[in-house]
Amino acid sequence: MATGPEEASQRGNMARPWLRLELPQEERVQALLAEMTLAEKVGQTHQIHNLDPGSDRELIASGGIGSSLMASGATAGNERDEGVRACAVNAAQRIAVQESRLGIPLLFGRDVIHGHRTVFPIPLGLAATWDEDLVRRAARLAATEASADGVTWTFAPMLDISEEPRWGRVAESLGEAPVLAGRLGAAMVRGFQGEVLGGPGTVAACAKHFVGYGLVGGGRDYETVQVGENTLRNVHLRPFLDAVRAGCATVMAAFTDVDGVPMHAHRRLLRDVLKGEWGFDGVVVADWDGVGQLVAQGVATDLRDAAAQAIAAGVDIDMVSGAYAAHLAELVESGQVPLAVVDDAARRVIRLKIRHGLFEHPYVAATTSAPQPWPQSRLLAREAAAASFVLLTNKGTLPLAPDTGRVLLTGPFAQEGEALLGTWTLDGRGEEVASPASAIQTLLRGEAVIDDGRFSDQTMHLARQADITVALVGEHPSRSGEAHSVADLGLPAGQLEVLRAIAALGKPLVVVVFTGRPLDLGEVLDFADAVLVAWHPGLEAGPALMETLFGERSPGGRLPMTFPRSVGHLPSSSLARPTGRPIDAARDPAAGRYLDALVVPRLPFGSGLTYTTFSYGPLRLSATEMALHGGSIQVSIDVTNSGERPGREVVQLYLRDIVADVTRPLVELADWVSLVLDAGAVGTATFTITPEQLAYYDRTMTRRIDPGEALVTVGPDAAGGSCARITVTD
Ligand code: GLC
Repeated sequence: MATGPEEASQRGNMARPWLRLELPQEERVQALLAEMTLAEKVGQTHQIHNLDPGSDRELIASGGIGSSLMASGATAGNERDEGVRACAVNAAQRIAVQESRLGIPLLFGRDVIHGHRTVFPIPLGLAATWDEDLVRRAARLAATEASADGVTWTFAPMLDISEEPRWGRVAESLGEAPVLAGRLGAAMVRGFQGEVLGGPGTVAACAKHFVGYGLVGGGRDYETVQVGENTLRNVHLRPFLDAVRAGCATVMAAFTDVDGVPMHAHRRLLRDVLKGEWGFDGVVVADWDGVGQLVAQGVATDLRDAAAQAIAAGVDIDMVSGAYAAHLAELVESGQVPLAVVDDAARRVIRLKIRHGLFEHPYVAATTSAPQPWPQSRLLAREAAAASFVLLTNKGTLPLAPDTGRVLLTGPFAQEGEALLGTWTLDGRGEEVASPASAIQTLLRGEAVIDDGRFSDQTMHLARQADITVALVGEHPSRSGEAHSVADLGLPAGQLEVLRAIAALGKPLVVVVFTGRPLDLGEVLDFADAVLVAWHPGLEAGPALMETLFGERSPGGRLPMTFPRSVGHLPSSSLARPTGRPIDAARDPAAGRYLDALVVPRLPFGSGLTYTTFSYGPLRLSATEMALHGGSIQVSIDVTNSGERPGREVVQLYLRDIVADVTRPLVELADWVSLVLDAGAVGTATFTITPEQLAYYDRTMTRRIDPGEALVTVGPDAAGGSCARITVTD
C-alpha cells in the first residue's frame, strides 16, 4: 500500500531512532553510535580544511569526514579568503545527508572572532567595555550573520589569560583578569549559542586555547610554557570553567605545552580535569595540525604515534593533520587504542550534532547573509566601538567643540578602512568601514583638513596652519594576532618623532592610538593634550571615534590589560602575588625591584578616564564577618558624578586572601558594577561578597576556602581604592 511521506518518514525514523525527536538526546546518540562502523566513527573525528563538494565527494559520501574548517590557511586571521558561501556548504551537506550510509550531517567551522559581516572591536577592545550584555549582543549578531552563510561552529571565545603584551594574540583575548575574561567569555558563549544551541541563527562556540597559551615565553608565539598546576588552576583554567558552565559546546586544545607536556597530548588536563572533574560532555578539537605537531614537539615519533597519544589524551577531532583518518582504525584493530576511546570521541561529535539540531536542519536557507551589514547592525557596531575606547589622559582638551577651529586629522590611520577592522577579520570588508576621515567631514561639514596619512613634512605644514591636530597613530593589525609578536612595545617606527614635532608647535594635540595590545606610550602620555586608546574598533570606527572626540558620546572603557612602563618591566599586571621581600615593603614596596626605573605600571588594569569626574564616599559593609558556609556581606559605596557631564564609572571590587595555603594575588578582580550618572548625580554600587569568591586551589590541588581575614578594596582601578578587612568564620 502506498504510504504517504509522513508514514515513510515515520518508518524511516523507526529504522533510524537517532532521528526521533521524541527520544531523549542520549538515547538518540547511543542509537546512532551503535549503528556506526569503526571507519564511520573515525570519520567523525576527521576535519579537513575547506571541504570541497566536488573533489571530496567520495570522502563525504563514505562517511569519512565529520566537519570542515572554512579558513584561508594555518593562520586564518592573517590572510583573507573568498569568504563562505551557503551554496557550497549546502552542496557538501547534501552529499553527507543524502548519499552517506547513515546520513550524518557535517559541521562547518570558521573563526568568527569579533563579528562576521558586521565587524566589532577586536576582543581586547570588547573586553575594554566591561559590558557582558553588549558582548553577548555582538556575539548574537555575529552568529546570526555567520549561520546565514552556512557556518555552524565558531572558534571563539579565546580565553587565554596573558600579562604579555609582546604576544600578538592578546588582541584576541579578553584581558588579564580571570573574572573579567570568564564573565565576558561566558557572555560570548551565550551570544553565539543563543538560549538553546540549534535555535535559529546559533553557532556552536569554542573556548580556546585550552590551556596556558597566554604564558608563552618572552611573548613569542608558540613558545614553550613553564607553569605549575597551582597557577593554572587559580588563574588560567578559571575562564574555561566559566565557559563550560555557560554550556560552551566545544573546547580547542592549545598549540603549546605545559611544563613539557604538549596540550594535544595532555591527558591529565584534557581528560582528567576538563572531561572528568568538570564533566565536560562536549567536543575537544585540535588546533590546526596540533595533533601532527606532536612530532615537531619531539614527543611523538610519527603521525601514527601522535594520533595514538592525542586520542588517548582526549582530543576528539583532529583539525587538518589527517593523523586520525590515517591511523585510528588500525590503532584500534591492533589493540593499541581501545575502541572505547574512539567511541568516546565519536559519541561527543554525534552528541554535538544532535544538540545542534543538524539532523533536523542540515541546510542553510538559500539566501546568504545580507550583501552588506544591515543599518541596525552598524549601530550595534558603533555602540561597541565607542564603548571600547579608553581615555588615558586628558588635559581638558576633550571633548572638542564643533566650533573648535581648524582641525587637522592626520596620521597613518586618518584615511584607513581595512586596517581598522583588526586581526581575525575574515568576512568584513575594508571598503565598508566608516573611516575617521569621512566621519569627521560629516561632523564638521567638510571643514576638517585631512592629511595624506603619510605623516610626512606636509603634516608639519598643515599642523602649523591648524588650530588643533588629531593624530591617528598606532599599529597595523599585521602586528597583532597569530604569529605576530613583537620585542618592542613602542609605537611603530617614525610615529613618535612626528608626534613630538607636532607637540613642539605648542598647539593642542589629541592622539588616538589604534592597537592590538598594550603599548609603551612613554612621553606621548606627557606631551599630548589627550590620549585615547581605540584598539582596532571595527566597521564603525570613524563615527564612533568622532562622536566620542566631539562629545556626543563619553568614553567609558577601562583597561582590560595593564599598560607597562616599558618592555623591560614585563611581566606587569594585576596578577602580582606577595613576596617575602623587599625587607621593608611597607616603607618602600619598590625597593630591590629596579634600581633604574619606577616599578608601578604606567597605567593600571581597570583604569580609564571620562569627560567628567567621580568621587567616592566611604565604604559601607553590612557586616565584617561572614560564615564560611552560606555567609555573605553586602558592600556598598556611593559614587558622585562631580563634574559637568554625564559619564560611566566602572566601580571595581578587588579581594585579597590575607593568609592562605599558597600565595594569593595582592588585588584580584572579584566583581564590578557600572554606574552611568548625570552631572551631579549620586549612584550606589552594591556588591555581595561570598566566601566562594575567595576559593582557590591549595598545595594539594584541593579547592578550598579558608576561614580568616580578607581585604576588600573598592575603587576605579587596580591601583587603589577604599579598603576594609573582613573575616570568614568557620
Ligand atoms: C589557528 C588558531 C586558532 C584557530 C584555528 C582555525 O592556527 O590557533 O585559534 O581557531 O587555527 O583557524
